[in-house]
Amino acid sequence: MKRNNSRSLHRSCGMAALLSICLVFVSLPALSQKKDDGVLDQQLQKILHKAGFTGRVESSLETRLQRKLNPQLADLGRLLFFDVAGGLHDDNTCAGCHSPSSGFGDTQSIAIGVQNNLIVGPNRSGPRNQRRTPSVVNTAFYPKLMWNGRFSSLSGDPFDNSQGFEFPLPEGTTRFPPNDPIVKQLLVAQAHIPPTELVEVAGFTGTAGTIGPRFDQFDDGLGGVVPLPDESGFRNEPIRQEVLKRLNGNAIYRKIFGALFPEVASGAPIDFTMFGRAIAEFEFTQVYANAPLDKFARGDTHAMVSTQKRGALIFFGKGQCSACHSVGGQANQMFSDFQMHNIGVPQIAPLFGVGLGNVIFDGPNEDEDFGLEQITGDSNDRYKFRSSPLRNAALQPAFFHNGAFTRIEDAIRHHLDVKESVNHYNAAEAGVDPDQTHRLAASGPMLESLDPLLGNPIRLSDQEFRNLVSFVRDALLDGRARKSHLCPLIPDSVPSGMPLLSFEGCSQR
Ligand code: HEC
Ligand code: HEC
Repeated sequence: MKRNNSRSLHRSCGMAALLSICLVFVSLPALSQKKDDGVLDQQLQKILHKAGFTGRVESSLETRLQRKLNPQLADLGRLLFFDVAGGLHDDNTCAGCHSPSSGFGDTQSIAIGVQNNLIVGPNRSGPRNQRRTPSVVNTAFYPKLMWNGRFSSLSGDPFDNSQGFEFPLPEGTTRFPPNDPIVKQLLVAQAHIPPTELVEVAGFTGTAGTIGPRFDQFDDGLGGVVPLPDESGFRNEPIRQEVLKRLNGNAIYRKIFGALFPEVASGAPIDFTMFGRAIAEFEFTQVYANAPLDKFARGDTHAMVSTQKRGALIFFGKGQCSACHSVGGQANQMFSDFQMHNIGVPQIAPLFGVGLGNVIFDGPNEDEDFGLEQITGDSNDRYKFRSSPLRNAALQPAFFHNGAFTRIEDAIRHHLDVKESVNHYNAAEAGVDPDQTHRLAASGPMLESLDPLLGNPIRLSDQEFRNLVSFVRDALLDGRARKSHLCPLIPDSVPSGMPLLSFEGCSQR
């Protein structure tokens, strides 16, 4: 972190004879700096207060859950999170995409799920899905999950299920109805989903068996490959049953679940709600929302340096960032309004075919992602994605739903002049992996329906831009989301006895 100039000057004034002269040099700028900072601090405090930012969201977790976290349940969740036994082909699990080396988010621009090389990190390879894996850190506070917000708490509060949790079909609103006594938090519901995702975890034989033919067997006869139909609803439940069969067939899992759920101890099968509760409990322990800005808001004005403070003023002021990346009310201080917007992200797509990509993209050339429209079917919702919650974004190796940018500066600059950014976009220069540099969808229609908030360029001086970057990158980062803190969560072994995935960037025992 940058040091105050006056301080380093002070340090160089070692000789006693020079001390008095130094003091003159040091104290004058230091004094006015202090005064400036005082004004800056007051301005920022006022803005944060008005925006509803208290810096106390992390400590509200247990109050909002209305109970204490259960460390044993969380630890079971951690084992499941890392155990490839949850995937029907033993080659992927949550951590394969939500990696401890990048804040439990992706190591890739577009996620690689099943049929990967068992490596998690820059050298992961295998067919790509459609989107980048967001971090699970702090998701406990998200009222809407996913890039297009398709899993949501209808009350607008992830801790309040009085109106139920809405999921796309086949779950709809029926699986997690209002006031369910067990599935009370959105993440518990969400954890029912990934294991059924063919491209993410399950693999392509679905329920036909756990060994045998895979992805490439579902050849469309024209040289392409198609996943099983998603919307039919026939497959989610059978896949869950298959995963449960594995857990129930494992003595160690039965013992651990049994210690937490008395009915399992007395012979009942492990069910998927138990799986979901364990995973969610682990996710609840992964709340890292004590960044410099939080400390500042709680009164520690030294927690941020002045460049970050100035950047914050731009973020909440002339940059208009907080219009979408909001903090008050239902935003739960997560820097997202949890609404979907079209901000014109360049549409890169992987090559499609065996071993390259396994999701058919949208649009006539199958190289687009329609975002919210996929859920609503309304073409006005085309290209709309959820305002990304920005905490700990500095730890991401790529940005936006498709990782079209790999430098946070570029992601921020994109917002300031979207048309300029899109028209000059070059995937290779943006740093994305070579297999995603071949297909770039036409941007015309996307730019026509751009969110009006970003319709006109926002002009910032170089210094203002640097301040803004330093705010987003450093002042929203909680050091506990770094890999030095998350890699140690990789278990030494998992109950299935299957080998762990290999996490690059985490030195595994
Ligand atoms: C193939 C990679 C992959 C695997 C494996 C995977 N996820 Fe994800 N996860 C994603 C992607 C991609 C998204 C965003 C998908 C979208 O919006 O369309 C996501 C979204 C999420 C979200 C919502 C985050 C947010 O910001 O809204 C949570 C929570 C989550 N996953 C948890 C899990 C859990 C728990 C598991 C294991 C049971 C898991 N994931 C397995 C790729 C993966
Ligand atoms: C019109 C709403 C809107 C405004 C205004 C806005 N953003 Fe965003 N921002 C978004 C959306 C939507 C995304 C995700 C887009 C996607 O992935 O397709 C996003 C993504 C980002 C990301 C990437 C995060 C990630 O996880 O990939 C950063 C960084 C970011 N915004 C910073 C800013 C800054 C800084 C400003 C102010 C200059 C700003 N945004 C203004 C809506 C907005």
